[in-house]
Amino acid sequence: MAPSTSEREGSGGAVRNPLFARLLVRLRRNEPPEHLEYRRELLRGLSGRVLDVGAGDGANFPHFPSSVTEVIAVEPEPFLRERARENAKHAAVPVNVVDALADRLPLEDATVDAAVVALVLCTVPDQAATLRELRRVIRAGGELRFFEHVLARDPTLARVQRVLERSGCWPLVAGGCHPARDTAAAITTAGFSIEACRRLSVKPCPLAFPVAPHILGTARNTP
Ligand SMILES: C[S@@+](CC[C@H](N)C(=O)[O-])C[C@H]1O[C@@H](n2cnc3c(N)ncnc32)[C@H](O)[C@@H]1O
Repeated sequence: MAPSTSEREGSGGAVRNPLFARLLVRLRRNEPPEHLEYRRELLRGLSGRVLDVGAGDGANFPHFPSSVTEVIAVEPEPFLRERARENAKHAAVPVNVVDALADRLPLEDATVDAAVVALVLCTVPDQAATLRELRRVIRAGGELRFFEHVLARDPTLARVQRVLERSGCWPLVAGGCHPARDTAAAITTAGFSIEACRRLSVKPCPLAFPVAPHILGTARNTP
């Protein structure tokens, strides 16, 4: 039997990254203009009820268009969730910040028009389970918008990413982030139809070179 909404509520303290959370908030304060433009592109044209999964401190909030009537922002990390609640007060659209996990969303089936994942599918422990859960809550025909760093096409960089991943050192310093995930393939395998997908190289600082390859796009929740 599927769990009820109340049984799904709360992350149970499963995500706690105090150092990484503070670093993320600092980085967000100085996001380069190109990053802000990617966020605007990610959210452009959205409308209705939108889920922002792994919302962090709310970096997307200022960029939701006014056609969005409600944002449900899921954030399990306590420090980031508190920052997100503060930032939600200044958002132009109503934002409700909730404590939950991406693979146990406190939402009934088919109750959001779209979901947004920004630099989150790299971090969730089980990408396939998260994408299944997103398919469950997005209405038929609704959208999944994604902005994610991914496995490199360049074989040398892909090798570096795999070494960093296997050694465990990148996940350790980057809040559980996995640098070598083929996220576009995972989105398709989950049953979404990718309608647009732009490949980008994003390097906010030289140390970020292993996670430079990004994808930015839209997938449809086709029945
Ligand atoms: C790199 S940050 C990105 C934050 C934000 N989306 C942004 O664009 O700035 C990854 C986020 O995913 C959250 N996260 C980690 N594990 C999660 C999970 N199992 N379910 C939902 N969110 C999770 C982290 O707490 C963090 O806020």
